[in-house]
Amino acid sequence: MSNRMDDIVSLCKRRGFVFQSSEIYGGLSSAWDYGPLGVELKNRLQRFWWREMTQLNDNIVGLDAAIMMHPRVWEASGHVESFADLLVEDTVTNERFRWDHLPEENRRTMTSPAGNPLSEPRQFNLMFKTYLGPVAESGSEVYLRPETAQGIYVNFKNVVQTSRLKLPFGIAQVGKAFRNEIVTKNFIFRTCEFEQLEMQYFVHPSEDNKWFEYWKDQRMEYYHKLGIRPDRLRFEEHGPDELAHYAKAAFDIQYEFPFGWQELEGVHNRTDYDLRRHSEYSGKDLRYLDDATGDRFIPYIVETSAGLTRSVLMVIADAYEEEEIAENDSRVVLRLHPEIAPITVGVFPLVKKDGLAERAREIERELRDDFTTFYDQSGAIGRRYRRQDEIGTPFGVTIDYETMEENTVTLRMRDSMEQVRVPVPELAERIRREIKNYKRV
Ligand code: GAP
Repeated sequence: MSNRMDDIVSLCKRRGFVFQSSEIYGGLSSAWDYGPLGVELKNRLQRFWWREMTQLNDNIVGLDAAIMMHPRVWEASGHVESFADLLVEDTVTNERFRWDHLPEENRRTMTSPAGNPLSEPRQFNLMFKTYLGPVAESGSEVYLRPETAQGIYVNFKNVVQTSRLKLPFGIAQVGKAFRNEIVTKNFIFRTCEFEQLEMQYFVHPSEDNKWFEYWKDQRMEYYHKLGIRPDRLRFEEHGPDELAHYAKAAFDIQYEFPFGWQELEGVHNRTDYDLRRHSEYSGKDLRYLDDATGDRFIPYIVETSAGLTRSVLMVIADAYEEEEIAENDSRVVLRLHPEIAPITVGVFPLVKKDGLAERAREIERELRDDFTTFYDQSGAIGRRYRRQDEIGTPFGVTIDYETMEENTVTLRMRDSMEQVRVPVPELAERIRREIKNYKRV
């Protein structure tokens, strides 16, 4: 891991973004818990995506399907048969590798990176299996879903009938997914339990390419809106031998993490594969009726599928900066977009005495109606600013002696460290405006 990655992991633990799962028992490999700041960041990121998808598009609705589904779903979807990675083992150290992640040279010589012979590659299905009911017997097996998408497909008919949507339209869903990954590494980047942000867009089969291009553009635009550095984002097309079993075309949106370029989101043309298979396996007619023409057909699906937990790592990595601010003085700052920052406003009395602390408390309580706030009266004001910079709080409000006389406060901007004087009655509106017009410097 690069030093920058070490610094990010250490910040996440130190400030309560992410903790190792079951840490007091020595931890569980590759499972992570989101602490007080991490859960705020994750929830806000989820809301940002949800708003972008459902609120700003009047033809996209939401859904929240169960994690466990009828086992036939995974036969129909092709996951029982095809959702597998090739696994090889170092025959001396027993270290396991994904075949497709090994360098060409190791695959050719059948040796591990340590130089030992490799075992023959074998298929390894990534789905977790469990049993429904008190007896573990065949017939009661269920899978933990490896993608949220299937919950949307099996509800396609329900949504069409209840919401009277016309093509093209989308269904969005956020939720947990589970994959028994052979290799989990890089902190929360690849884990066995993770969250996805998925949207399935149902279109007329003749318009699949048009909507595929449209959603590629929209999704890249979304990351720009989130303030992610454009030079750390790119598209990567899947070659014919990389396509998932359901896809006709696929592009990844990749991000340049401290450990290299990696997938953040996939945009897939899944054709009519999923609905057709569910129709066949369930015996239910999942065709769409076009009222205008009387045609019945199975729509094509353009899918946008992002990792929420992976996005948490991405936004932190992108926001993280160590900055020289004066000779012998530096700060760590997380330049998070204000809409996803765990705390929006820090409120600080310059000193505790002479009624400043009480006035600061009052102002903080007033701001709570509109923002997530944090009150801090301990230590030098510079240190209090730094503590908030490090966790990405975009605004600091300082109450001083002038506040007591003129009812104004100092509003400090995290990114530029600029300070402006603002009348207290205008403070909330001013912060709202700053959030709306936010541009990362
Ligand atoms: N429904 C399509 C689908 O699941 P995918 O490319 O396998 O497509 C979509 O996964 C996204 O889910 C990925 O781009 C990634 O962000 C996230 N993801 C996949 N596996 C993950 C894992 N083991 N840990 C964390 N995130 C993962």
